[in-house]
Amino acid sequence: MVKYFPPPYRIKMIEPIKLPSVERRNQAIKEANYNLFNLNSEDIFIDLLTDSGTGAMSDKQWASLMVGDESYANAKSFYRLKSVVTDLTGFSEIIPTHQGRAAENILFGYILKDKPHSFVVSNQSFDTTVGHILYNKAYPKDLVVQESKEIDTTLPFKGNMDIKRLRELLETEHQNVSVITMVLTNNAGGGQPASIENLREVSMLARQYSIPFFIDASRVIENAYFIQQRENGFREKNLKTILHEMFDLADGMWMSAKKDAYVNIGGLIALNNKTFSDHLRDRLILFEGFPTYGGLAGRDLEAMATGLSEAVEGDVIAHRINQVEFLVNRLHEEGIPVVLPAGGHAAFIDAGKFLPHIPPNQFPAQALAVELYLQGGIRSVEIGSLMFGHQEGDRFIPAPLELLRLTIPRRVYEKAHFEFIIDTLLSIKKEKDKIKGYEITEESELLRHFTCKLRPLD
Ligand SMILES: Cc1ncc(COP(=O)(O)O)c(C=O)c1O
Repeated sequence: MVKYFPPPYRIKMIEPIKLPSVERRNQAIKEANYNLFNLNSEDIFIDLLTDSGTGAMSDKQWASLMVGDESYANAKSFYRLKSVVTDLTGFSEIIPTHQGRAAENILFGYILKDKPHSFVVSNQSFDTTVGHILYNKAYPKDLVVQESKEIDTTLPFKGNMDIKRLRELLETEHQNVSVITMVLTNNAGGGQPASIENLREVSMLARQYSIPFFIDASRVIENAYFIQQRENGFREKNLKTILHEMFDLADGMWMSAKKDAYVNIGGLIALNNKTFSDHLRDRLILFEGFPTYGGLAGRDLEAMATGLSEAVEGDVIAHRINQVEFLVNRLHEEGIPVVLPAGGHAAFIDAGKFLPHIPPNQFPAQALAVELYLQGGIRSVEIGSLMFGHQEGDRFIPAPLELLRLTIPRRVYEKAHFEFIIDTLLSIKKEKDKIKGYEITEESELLRHFTCKLRPLD
Protein backbone atom coordinates (compact mmCIF):
# COMPACT_ATOMS: atom_id res chain seq x y z
CA MET A 1 0.00 0.00 0.00
CA VAL A 2 1.42 3.41 -0.98
CA LYS A 3 1.44 5.82 1.94
CA TYR A 4 0.04 9.31 1.30
CA PHE A 5 2.51 11.79 2.76
CA PRO A 6 1.42 15.24 3.94
CA PRO A 7 1.96 17.91 1.27
CA PRO A 8 5.03 20.15 1.62
CA TYR A 9 2.81 23.26 1.77
CA ARG A 10 -0.13 24.61 3.71
CA ILE A 11 -3.22 26.41 2.43
CA LYS A 12 -3.30 30.20 2.36
CA MET A 13 -6.13 30.86 -0.10
CA ILE A 14 -9.02 28.68 -1.17
CA GLU A 15 -11.44 28.50 -4.10
CA PRO A 16 -14.88 27.14 -3.15
CA ILE A 17 -16.19 24.10 -5.05
CA LYS A 18 -19.58 22.46 -4.68
CA LEU A 19 -21.03 19.07 -5.50
CA PRO A 20 -24.12 19.93 -7.58
CA SER A 21 -27.34 18.08 -6.72
CA VAL A 22 -28.09 14.78 -8.47
CA GLU A 23 -30.86 16.52 -10.42
CA ARG A 24 -28.50 19.27 -11.58
CA ARG A 25 -25.81 16.75 -12.63
CA ASN A 26 -28.38 14.81 -14.66
CA GLN A 27 -29.59 18.01 -16.27
CA ALA A 28 -26.06 19.34 -16.88
CA ILE A 29 -24.80 16.21 -18.62
CA LYS A 30 -27.87 16.18 -20.88
CA GLU A 31 -27.30 19.85 -21.73
CA ALA A 32 -23.66 18.98 -22.49
CA ASN A 33 -24.87 16.21 -24.86
CA TYR A 34 -22.91 13.69 -22.76
CA ASN A 35 -19.61 15.31 -23.73
CA LEU A 36 -17.73 16.40 -20.59
CA PHE A 37 -15.82 19.09 -22.51
CA ASN A 38 -19.19 20.87 -22.79
CA LEU A 39 -19.84 20.97 -19.03
CA ASN A 40 -19.61 24.34 -17.31
CA SER A 41 -16.90 24.36 -14.65
CA GLU A 42 -19.52 25.46 -12.10
CA ASP A 43 -21.27 22.13 -12.55
CA ILE A 44 -18.13 20.20 -11.60
CA PHE A 45 -16.98 19.16 -8.12
CA ILE A 46 -13.54 17.67 -8.87
CA ASP A 47 -12.03 18.55 -12.23
CA LEU A 48 -9.56 15.96 -13.55
CA LEU A 49 -9.79 16.94 -17.22
CA THR A 50 -6.16 18.08 -17.47
CA ASP A 51 -3.07 19.05 -15.47
CA SER A 52 -2.27 21.78 -18.01
CA GLY A 53 -2.49 25.28 -16.56
CA THR A 54 -4.82 24.07 -13.81
CA GLY A 55 -2.31 24.04 -10.94
CA ALA A 56 -2.10 26.34 -7.93
CA MET A 57 0.72 28.88 -7.89
CA SER A 58 2.77 29.37 -4.73
CA ASP A 59 2.80 32.54 -2.60
CA LYS A 60 6.16 33.46 -4.15
CA GLN A 61 4.76 33.04 -7.65
CA TRP A 62 1.81 35.31 -6.84
CA ALA A 63 4.25 37.81 -5.36
CA SER A 64 6.34 37.57 -8.56
CA LEU A 65 3.36 38.83 -10.56
CA MET A 66 3.66 42.16 -8.79
CA VAL A 67 7.26 42.69 -9.85
CA GLY A 68 6.67 41.83 -13.50
CA ASP A 69 8.35 44.37 -15.77
CA GLU A 70 5.87 45.19 -18.54
CA SER A 71 8.34 47.04 -20.78
CA TYR A 72 7.79 46.07 -24.41
CA ALA A 73 11.46 45.37 -25.11
CA ASN A 74 14.22 43.93 -22.92
CA ALA A 75 12.20 43.82 -19.72
CA LYS A 76 14.14 42.70 -16.67
CA SER A 77 11.60 39.90 -16.13
CA PHE A 78 12.84 38.30 -19.35
CA TYR A 79 16.43 38.36 -18.13
CA ARG A 80 15.40 36.78 -14.85
CA LEU A 81 13.60 33.98 -16.71
CA LYS A 82 16.58 33.57 -19.03
CA SER A 83 18.98 33.19 -16.14
CA VAL A 84 16.74 30.62 -14.38
CA VAL A 85 16.25 28.55 -17.56
CA THR A 86 19.95 28.70 -18.48
CA ASP A 87 20.82 27.64 -14.96
CA LEU A 88 18.47 24.63 -15.19
CA THR A 89 19.18 23.55 -18.74
CA GLY A 90 22.63 24.82 -19.72
CA PHE A 91 21.07 26.37 -22.86
CA SER A 92 21.95 29.99 -23.56
CA GLU A 93 19.28 31.04 -26.11
CA ILE A 94 15.88 31.37 -24.43
CA ILE A 95 12.70 32.10 -26.37
CA PRO A 96 9.45 32.64 -24.46
CA THR A 97 6.13 31.65 -26.06
CA HIS A 98 2.56 31.88 -24.81
CA GLN A 99 2.20 28.09 -24.44
CA GLY A 100 3.57 24.75 -25.65
CA ARG A 101 1.89 24.61 -29.03
CA ALA A 102 3.09 28.14 -29.79
CA ALA A 103 6.63 26.89 -29.20
CA GLU A 104 5.83 24.01 -31.58
CA ASN A 105 4.60 26.44 -34.21
CA ILE A 106 7.84 28.44 -34.01
CA LEU A 107 10.14 25.40 -33.86
CA PHE A 108 8.57 22.96 -36.32
CA GLY A 109 7.60 25.73 -38.75
CA TYR A 110 11.33 26.45 -39.05
CA ILE A 111 12.79 22.92 -38.87
CA LEU A 112 10.31 21.49 -41.38
CA LYS A 113 10.20 24.51 -43.71
CA ASP A 114 12.21 22.91 -46.51
CA LYS A 115 11.58 19.32 -45.53
CA PRO A 116 8.08 18.31 -46.66
CA HIS A 117 7.38 14.56 -46.39
CA SER A 118 10.21 14.07 -43.90
CA PHE A 119 9.80 12.21 -40.59
CA VAL A 120 9.76 13.63 -37.08
CA VAL A 121 10.83 10.63 -35.04
CA SER A 122 9.82 10.54 -31.39
CA ASN A 123 9.10 8.17 -28.54
CA GLN A 124 5.49 9.45 -28.90
CA SER A 125 4.62 12.92 -30.13
CA PHE A 126 1.83 14.64 -28.22
CA ASP A 127 -1.29 15.49 -30.27
CA THR A 128 -0.57 19.24 -30.65
CA THR A 129 2.93 18.31 -31.88
CA VAL A 130 1.42 15.85 -34.33
CA GLY A 131 -0.83 18.68 -35.53
CA HIS A 132 2.16 20.94 -36.21
CA ILE A 133 4.12 18.17 -37.92
CA LEU A 134 1.20 17.40 -40.26
CA TYR A 135 0.48 21.11 -40.80
CA ASN A 136 4.06 21.43 -42.06
CA LYS A 137 3.49 18.47 -44.39
CA ALA A 138 5.83 16.10 -42.53
CA TYR A 139 4.98 12.82 -40.79
CA PRO A 140 5.20 11.83 -37.12
CA LYS A 141 6.90 8.48 -36.50
CA ASP A 142 6.50 7.14 -32.96
CA LEU A 143 8.97 4.51 -31.78
CA VAL A 144 8.12 4.17 -28.09
CA VAL A 145 8.99 0.77 -26.56
CA GLN A 146 6.38 -1.95 -27.10
CA GLU A 147 5.83 -2.31 -23.30
CA SER A 148 4.28 1.15 -23.33
CA LYS A 149 1.14 -0.46 -24.81
CA GLU A 150 0.94 -3.22 -22.17
CA ILE A 151 -0.98 -1.88 -19.21
CA ASP A 152 0.15 -4.53 -16.70
CA THR A 153 3.88 -4.52 -17.48
CA THR A 154 5.50 -2.68 -14.60
CA LEU A 155 8.77 -1.44 -16.09
CA PRO A 156 10.40 1.70 -14.67
CA PHE A 157 10.85 3.51 -18.01
CA LYS A 158 7.93 2.75 -20.30
CA GLY A 159 8.46 6.12 -22.04
CA ASN A 160 11.78 4.98 -23.57
CA MET A 161 12.47 5.07 -27.29
CA ASP A 162 12.80 1.65 -28.93
CA ILE A 163 16.50 1.94 -29.82
CA LYS A 164 16.55 -1.10 -32.10
CA ARG A 165 13.76 0.32 -34.26
CA LEU A 166 15.35 3.76 -34.23
CA ARG A 167 18.68 2.32 -35.36
CA GLU A 168 17.02 0.33 -38.14
CA LEU A 169 15.07 3.34 -39.33
CA LEU A 170 18.14 5.57 -39.39
CA GLU A 171 20.22 2.97 -41.25
CA THR A 172 17.84 3.10 -44.20
CA GLU A 173 16.04 6.45 -43.92
CA HIS A 174 18.29 8.89 -42.05
CA GLN A 175 18.23 11.38 -44.91
CA ASN A 176 14.43 11.61 -44.50
CA VAL A 177 14.49 12.30 -40.76
CA SER A 178 14.36 16.03 -40.05
CA VAL A 179 14.44 15.92 -36.24
CA ILE A 180 14.36 13.42 -33.38
CA THR A 181 12.41 14.29 -30.24
CA MET A 182 11.81 12.74 -26.84
CA VAL A 183 8.62 13.67 -24.99
CA LEU A 184 9.42 13.67 -21.25
CA THR A 185 7.35 12.35 -19.65
CA ASN A 186 5.31 10.70 -22.39
CA ASN A 187 1.88 12.29 -21.99
CA ALA A 188 0.19 10.30 -24.76
CA GLY A 189 1.61 7.09 -23.24
CA GLY A 190 0.44 7.43 -19.64
CA GLY A 191 2.96 10.00 -18.33
CA GLN A 192 5.68 7.32 -18.34
CA PRO A 193 9.31 8.50 -18.08
CA ALA A 194 12.43 7.73 -20.11
CA SER A 195 15.82 6.87 -18.61
CA ILE A 196 19.11 8.73 -19.02
CA GLU A 197 20.56 5.55 -20.50
CA ASN A 198 17.90 5.65 -23.22
CA LEU A 199 18.42 9.38 -23.85
CA ARG A 200 22.16 8.73 -24.25
CA GLU A 201 21.51 6.13 -26.93
CA VAL A 202 19.05 8.39 -28.77
CA SER A 203 21.54 11.24 -28.57
CA MET A 204 24.41 9.10 -29.89
CA LEU A 205 22.38 8.03 -32.91
CA ALA A 206 21.16 11.59 -33.56
CA ARG A 207 24.77 12.82 -33.48
CA GLN A 208 26.02 9.93 -35.62
CA TYR A 209 23.58 10.96 -38.36
CA SER A 210 23.80 14.74 -37.70
CA ILE A 211 20.06 14.99 -36.99
CA PRO A 212 18.89 17.65 -34.49
CA PHE A 213 17.62 16.21 -31.21
CA PHE A 214 15.05 18.18 -29.17
CA ILE A 215 13.32 17.37 -25.89
CA ASP A 216 9.64 18.15 -25.29
CA ALA A 217 10.32 19.22 -21.70
CA SER A 218 6.73 19.92 -20.58
CA ARG A 219 7.08 17.45 -17.68
CA VAL A 220 10.85 17.08 -17.66
CA ILE A 221 11.25 17.78 -13.93
CA GLU A 222 8.85 14.92 -13.17
CA ASN A 223 10.93 12.77 -15.53
CA ALA A 224 14.12 13.81 -13.71
CA TYR A 225 12.47 12.80 -10.43
CA PHE A 226 11.67 9.33 -11.84
CA ILE A 227 15.31 9.00 -12.95
CA GLN A 228 16.47 9.94 -9.45
CA GLN A 229 14.15 7.35 -7.89
CA ARG A 230 14.37 4.52 -10.42
CA GLU A 231 17.64 4.58 -12.38
CA ASN A 232 20.84 3.06 -11.00
CA GLY A 233 23.38 5.62 -9.90
CA PHE A 234 21.07 8.65 -9.60
CA ARG A 235 19.70 8.40 -6.03
CA GLU A 236 22.31 10.78 -4.65
CA LYS A 237 22.03 13.36 -7.44
CA ASN A 238 19.75 16.36 -7.17
CA LEU A 239 17.18 17.17 -9.86
CA LYS A 240 19.18 20.04 -11.29
CA THR A 241 22.21 17.81 -11.88
CA ILE A 242 20.01 15.21 -13.54
CA LEU A 243 18.36 17.87 -15.73
CA HIS A 244 21.80 19.01 -16.87
CA GLU A 245 22.76 15.46 -17.75
CA MET A 246 19.56 15.15 -19.78
CA PHE A 247 19.83 18.46 -21.62
CA ASP A 248 23.56 17.98 -22.35
CA LEU A 249 22.46 15.14 -24.61
CA ALA A 250 20.13 17.32 -26.71
CA ASP A 251 20.41 20.26 -29.10
CA GLY A 252 17.49 22.03 -27.49
CA MET A 253 14.12 21.78 -25.81
CA TRP A 254 10.66 23.25 -25.88
CA MET A 255 8.07 23.16 -23.15
CA SER A 256 4.54 23.97 -22.18
CA ALA A 257 5.22 25.80 -18.91
CA LYS A 258 1.62 25.06 -17.86
CA LYS A 259 2.89 21.80 -16.39
CA ASP A 260 6.26 21.64 -14.58
CA ALA A 261 6.71 25.43 -14.34
CA TYR A 262 3.50 25.58 -12.28
CA VAL A 263 1.93 28.50 -14.18
CA ASN A 264 -1.50 28.90 -15.70
CA ILE A 265 -0.10 30.07 -19.05
CA GLY A 266 3.36 30.05 -20.65
CA GLY A 267 5.88 28.17 -22.74
CA LEU A 268 9.44 28.40 -24.01
CA ILE A 269 12.16 27.14 -26.31
CA ALA A 270 15.80 26.83 -25.23
CA LEU A 271 18.89 25.91 -27.24
CA ASN A 272 22.53 26.87 -27.80
CA ASN A 273 22.83 27.48 -31.53
CA LYS A 274 22.68 31.27 -32.03
CA THR A 275 21.99 31.21 -35.80
CA PHE A 276 19.22 28.65 -35.38
CA SER A 277 17.69 30.66 -32.52
CA ASP A 278 17.77 33.88 -34.60
CA HIS A 279 15.68 32.14 -37.26
CA LEU A 280 13.24 31.08 -34.55
CA ARG A 281 13.07 34.67 -33.27
CA ASP A 282 12.08 35.87 -36.75
CA ARG A 283 9.09 33.55 -36.58
CA LEU A 284 8.46 34.54 -32.96
CA ILE A 285 8.05 38.19 -33.92
CA LEU A 286 5.60 37.18 -36.62
CA PHE A 287 3.44 34.87 -34.52
CA GLU A 288 3.97 35.72 -30.85
CA GLY A 289 5.68 39.03 -30.08
CA PHE A 290 8.99 40.72 -29.41
CA PRO A 291 11.74 38.16 -28.54
CA THR A 292 11.87 39.12 -24.87
CA TYR A 293 8.16 38.57 -24.13
CA GLY A 294 6.96 36.15 -26.82
CA GLY A 295 3.20 36.40 -26.28
CA LEU A 296 3.30 36.75 -22.49
CA ALA A 297 3.06 39.59 -20.00
CA GLY A 298 6.15 40.45 -17.94
CA ARG A 299 4.36 39.10 -14.87
CA ASP A 300 3.89 35.71 -16.57
CA LEU A 301 7.64 35.51 -17.21
CA GLU A 302 8.28 36.21 -13.53
CA ALA A 303 5.80 33.55 -12.37
CA MET A 304 7.37 31.04 -14.74
CA ALA A 305 10.89 31.80 -13.46
CA THR A 306 9.77 31.38 -9.85
CA GLY A 307 7.75 28.24 -10.64
CA LEU A 308 10.71 26.53 -12.32
CA SER A 309 13.12 27.44 -9.52
CA GLU A 310 10.71 26.05 -6.93
CA ALA A 311 9.83 22.89 -8.87
CA VAL A 312 13.46 21.86 -9.27
CA GLU A 313 13.92 21.86 -5.50
CA GLY A 314 12.01 18.59 -5.75
CA ASP A 315 9.73 18.25 -2.71
CA VAL A 316 6.63 19.52 -4.52
CA ILE A 317 7.28 17.16 -7.44
CA ALA A 318 7.86 14.26 -5.02
CA HIS A 319 4.50 14.96 -3.36
CA ARG A 320 2.73 15.14 -6.70
CA ILE A 321 4.13 11.81 -7.86
CA ASN A 322 3.16 10.37 -4.47
CA GLN A 323 -0.45 11.56 -4.98
CA VAL A 324 -0.66 9.91 -8.39
CA GLU A 325 0.93 6.70 -7.07
CA PHE A 326 -1.50 6.64 -4.15
CA LEU A 327 -4.50 6.91 -6.46
CA VAL A 328 -3.21 4.38 -9.01
CA ASN A 329 -2.17 1.81 -6.42
CA ARG A 330 -5.42 2.08 -4.44
CA LEU A 331 -7.45 1.58 -7.62
CA HIS A 332 -5.28 -1.41 -8.53
CA GLU A 333 -5.71 -2.92 -5.04
CA GLU A 334 -9.48 -2.47 -5.33
CA GLY A 335 -9.54 -4.45 -8.58
CA ILE A 336 -10.06 -1.52 -10.92
CA PRO A 337 -7.82 -2.07 -13.97
CA VAL A 338 -5.27 0.75 -14.26
CA VAL A 339 -2.12 1.37 -16.26
CA LEU A 340 0.91 0.30 -14.20
CA PRO A 341 3.22 1.58 -12.86
CA ALA A 342 1.84 5.01 -11.96
CA GLY A 343 3.04 7.70 -14.35
CA GLY A 344 3.67 11.32 -13.54
CA HIS A 345 0.44 13.20 -13.95
CA ALA A 346 -2.58 10.93 -14.16
CA ALA A 347 -4.24 7.61 -13.42
CA PHE A 348 -5.44 5.75 -16.49
CA ILE A 349 -8.33 3.30 -16.03
CA ASP A 350 -8.67 0.56 -18.65
CA ALA A 351 -12.39 1.00 -19.31
CA GLY A 352 -12.29 -1.70 -21.99
CA LYS A 353 -11.47 -4.21 -19.24
CA PHE A 354 -13.67 -2.58 -16.61
CA LEU A 355 -16.76 -2.54 -18.84
CA PRO A 356 -16.21 -5.54 -21.16
CA HIS A 357 -19.90 -5.61 -22.11
CA ILE A 358 -19.56 -2.26 -23.95
CA PRO A 359 -17.82 -2.66 -27.33
CA PRO A 360 -15.25 -0.05 -28.47
CA ASN A 361 -17.67 1.47 -30.99
CA GLN A 362 -19.97 2.31 -28.05
CA PHE A 363 -17.15 4.10 -26.22
CA PRO A 364 -16.75 2.33 -22.84
CA ALA A 365 -14.36 4.99 -21.45
CA GLN A 366 -16.84 7.75 -22.32
CA ALA A 367 -19.61 5.73 -20.64
CA LEU A 368 -17.44 5.50 -17.51
CA ALA A 369 -16.62 9.23 -17.69
CA VAL A 370 -20.33 10.09 -17.77
CA GLU A 371 -21.05 7.74 -14.85
CA LEU A 372 -18.21 9.21 -12.80
CA TYR A 373 -19.67 12.65 -13.37
CA LEU A 374 -23.23 11.56 -12.55
CA GLN A 375 -22.21 9.79 -9.35
CA GLY A 376 -19.49 12.13 -8.06
CA GLY A 377 -19.49 15.36 -10.06
CA ILE A 378 -15.99 14.32 -11.21
CA ARG A 379 -14.82 15.36 -14.68
CA SER A 380 -12.32 13.02 -16.37
CA VAL A 381 -11.35 12.57 -19.99
CA GLU A 382 -11.82 9.72 -22.46
CA ILE A 383 -8.64 8.59 -24.22
CA GLY A 384 -10.04 5.80 -26.32
CA SER A 385 -12.09 5.28 -29.45
CA LEU A 386 -13.98 8.55 -29.12
CA MET A 387 -10.64 10.38 -29.34
CA PHE A 388 -8.71 8.06 -31.65
CA GLY A 389 -11.18 5.63 -33.27
CA HIS A 390 -12.35 6.16 -36.86
CA GLN A 391 -14.34 4.63 -39.70
CA GLU A 392 -12.70 3.05 -42.71
CA GLY A 393 -15.64 2.53 -45.05
CA ASP A 394 -18.01 0.27 -43.11
CA ARG A 395 -15.30 -0.82 -40.70
CA PHE A 396 -14.81 0.80 -37.30
CA ILE A 397 -11.13 1.04 -36.33
CA PRO A 398 -10.91 1.31 -32.53
CA ALA A 399 -8.17 2.96 -30.48
CA PRO A 400 -5.50 0.54 -29.15
CA LEU A 401 -6.90 0.95 -25.59
CA GLU A 402 -10.13 2.33 -24.12
CA LEU A 403 -8.66 4.51 -21.36
CA LEU A 404 -10.20 6.97 -18.95
CA ARG A 405 -7.66 9.54 -17.73
CA LEU A 406 -7.94 11.04 -14.26
CA THR A 407 -5.48 13.91 -14.56
CA ILE A 408 -4.21 15.46 -11.36
CA PRO A 409 -3.86 19.26 -11.23
CA ARG A 410 -0.80 20.40 -9.24
CA ARG A 411 -1.25 21.36 -5.57
CA VAL A 412 -5.05 21.55 -5.95
CA TYR A 413 -6.69 18.55 -4.30
CA GLU A 414 -6.21 16.93 -0.89
CA LYS A 415 -6.20 13.32 0.28
CA ALA A 416 -9.96 13.42 0.99
CA HIS A 417 -10.63 14.31 -2.65
CA PHE A 418 -8.66 11.24 -3.72
CA GLU A 419 -10.59 9.06 -1.25
CA PHE A 420 -13.83 10.47 -2.68
CA ILE A 421 -12.74 9.62 -6.25
CA ILE A 422 -11.82 6.06 -5.19
CA ASP A 423 -15.12 5.60 -3.27
CA THR A 424 -17.12 6.86 -6.24
CA LEU A 425 -15.39 4.39 -8.56
CA LEU A 426 -16.02 1.57 -6.08
CA SER A 427 -19.69 2.39 -5.93
CA ILE A 428 -19.79 2.43 -9.76
CA LYS A 429 -18.01 -0.95 -9.78
CA LYS A 430 -20.85 -2.57 -7.82
CA GLU A 431 -23.37 -1.91 -10.61
CA LYS A 432 -21.06 -1.52 -13.54
CA ASP A 433 -22.87 -4.14 -15.66
CA LYS A 434 -25.85 -1.77 -15.91
CA ILE A 435 -23.80 1.00 -17.58
CA LYS A 436 -24.79 1.48 -21.23
CA GLY A 437 -22.73 2.52 -24.24
CA TYR A 438 -23.08 5.71 -26.34
CA GLU A 439 -23.41 6.72 -29.95
CA ILE A 440 -22.27 9.93 -31.62
CA THR A 441 -25.06 12.09 -33.00
CA GLU A 442 -22.93 14.97 -34.32
CA GLU A 443 -19.17 15.27 -34.89
CA SER A 444 -16.60 17.52 -36.53
CA GLU A 445 -14.09 16.29 -39.09
CA LEU A 446 -11.01 16.90 -36.91
CA LEU A 447 -10.50 16.30 -33.17
CA ARG A 448 -14.15 15.31 -32.77
CA HIS A 449 -13.88 14.48 -29.05
CA PHE A 450 -13.75 18.18 -28.11
CA THR A 451 -17.13 19.11 -29.54
CA CYS A 452 -19.10 16.02 -30.57
CA LYS A 453 -22.58 15.28 -29.26
CA LEU A 454 -23.52 11.87 -27.91
CA ARG A 455 -26.59 9.89 -26.96
CA PRO A 456 -26.92 6.99 -24.48
CA LEU A 457 -27.93 3.70 -26.11
CA ASP A 458 -30.94 1.82 -24.74
C1 LIG B 1 3.86 16.68 -23.83
C2 LIG B 1 3.13 17.91 -24.26
N1 LIG B 1 3.63 18.67 -25.26
C3 LIG B 1 3.00 19.77 -25.67
C4 LIG B 1 1.80 20.19 -25.13
C5 LIG B 1 1.10 21.42 -25.64
O1 LIG B 1 1.17 22.43 -24.70
P1 LIG B 1 0.06 23.58 -24.55
O2 LIG B 1 -1.19 22.93 -24.10
O3 LIG B 1 0.66 24.51 -23.55
O4 LIG B 1 -0.07 24.22 -25.89
C6 LIG B 1 1.24 19.43 -24.10
C7 LIG B 1 -0.04 19.83 -23.49
O5 LIG B 1 -0.72 19.11 -22.82
C8 LIG B 1 1.93 18.26 -23.65
O6 LIG B 1 1.44 17.49 -22.67
